[in-house]
Amino acid sequence: MSTENSERIARVKVELGHRSYLIDISAGLLSQPIPSSVLEGVSKVVLISNKVVFPLYGERLCASIAAGGLSVESVVLPDGESHKDWHTLNLIFDALLTSASDRKTLLVALGGGVVGDIAGFAAATYQRGIAFVQVPTTLLAQVDSSVGGKTAINHPLGKNMVGAFYQPKYVLIDTDVLQSLPDREFKAGLAEVIKYGAALDVKFFEWIEGNIDALNQRTPAALAYAIRRSCEIKAGVVADDEFESSKEGGRALLNFGHTFGHAIETALGYGAWLHGEAVACGMAMAARLSAELGRISTADMQRVLDLIKRAGLVAELPPIAADTMLAHMSRDKKNEAGTIKLILLSTLGVSCIDATVSREALLAFLRRQRA
Ligand code: NAD
Ligand code: GLY
Repeated sequence: MSTENSERIARVKVELGHRSYLIDISAGLLSQPIPSSVLEGVSKVVLISNKVVFPLYGERLCASIAAGGLSVESVVLPDGESHKDWHTLNLIFDALLTSASDRKTLLVALGGGVVGDIAGFAAATYQRGIAFVQVPTTLLAQVDSSVGGKTAINHPLGKNMVGAFYQPKYVLIDTDVLQSLPDREFKAGLAEVIKYGAALDVKFFEWIEGNIDALNQRTPAALAYAIRRSCEIKAGVVADDEFESSKEGGRALLNFGHTFGHAIETALGYGAWLHGEAVACGMAMAARLSAELGRISTADMQRVLDLIKRAGLVAELPPIAADTMLAHMSRDKKNEAGTIKLILLSTLGVSCIDATVSREALLAFLRRQRA
């Protein structure tokens, strides 16, 4: 991972050998020409977006791509997590096949994490894999989902259960687009920013504590730093453990808050709680469990809870029966041979995989949260 700062564009590189790629971050980037290296060898571009984002930014991005001399077709998907499924994925394949898209077609995902994950999975599987570019438009997608190559759709029995690791060719982050993001979505994105600090970088956690008001107000300078630092941290983790296979934790540590969070999302029905909202609550649960197990002090646990609340997020478990939570947590992708693996805090800014909490102990902990 390396970072460069030109006058305007912050540039983070995800180092993955011949699959390395750049993340460019700047205000106004949507109106700039796409780097020619990204468009080299491309026959045409198919822009994948949704019915909320396309009317806002589709035309601008199409014009920037067309300025490079390529034709652009658009596929506009229904909006929302409840559409992150086979049916919507098939809409992309229908469009690609109807327009005779070949292996040199470049997919460009313009939207939040839902569009990015589903378009990425389409790119991973169409004709056994075509190139794709991420243009994330939510805070969550800019700091997390557009980077690292996790692509997926949901299954009724589990979140992101069908997918592939498939890296994008380039990530274009225009920080201006965050100004049109609804408040609830913006706050959900802050959850993933807090995640990087709490689980991986105490200095960043302290910076977020000191700048949470500026972030809440969407101050451009604070946002630009939060996005760049989050991308740097994620790029480093992904470069070290792309396929989440490290025994020491590696990429799995990015799942801090997600074992509880995914269970909340699945139990409530996709879209009832936003992904970031569920992750925020999940981080609070993981911090509480870390404190109960004596891994972190009550004071550090409280700092995590306070920051979640100051970001306007909920730290209390919604009304889901403890055994329902446990059943969903049992299907987590990190689990092996029936053992539930949790990401817990060793100290603030340092996390670890814990496979020692028994199902009975976890059930009792979940029941106490509901008391
Ligand atoms: P989302 O994609 O549903 O976007 C949130 C809402 O904001 C949608 O209604 C969207 O249309 C709208 N929107 C997007 N950009 C906008 C803008 N600039 N202005 C106005 N409205 C805008 O949700 P999300 O939070 O971006 O992503 C959540 C998804 O990301 C989940 O499915 C989650 O599983 C996935 N995710 C994936 C990874 C990964 O590594 N691949 C990481 C984290 C989350
Ligand atoms: N969002 C977790 C990961 O990309 O690994």
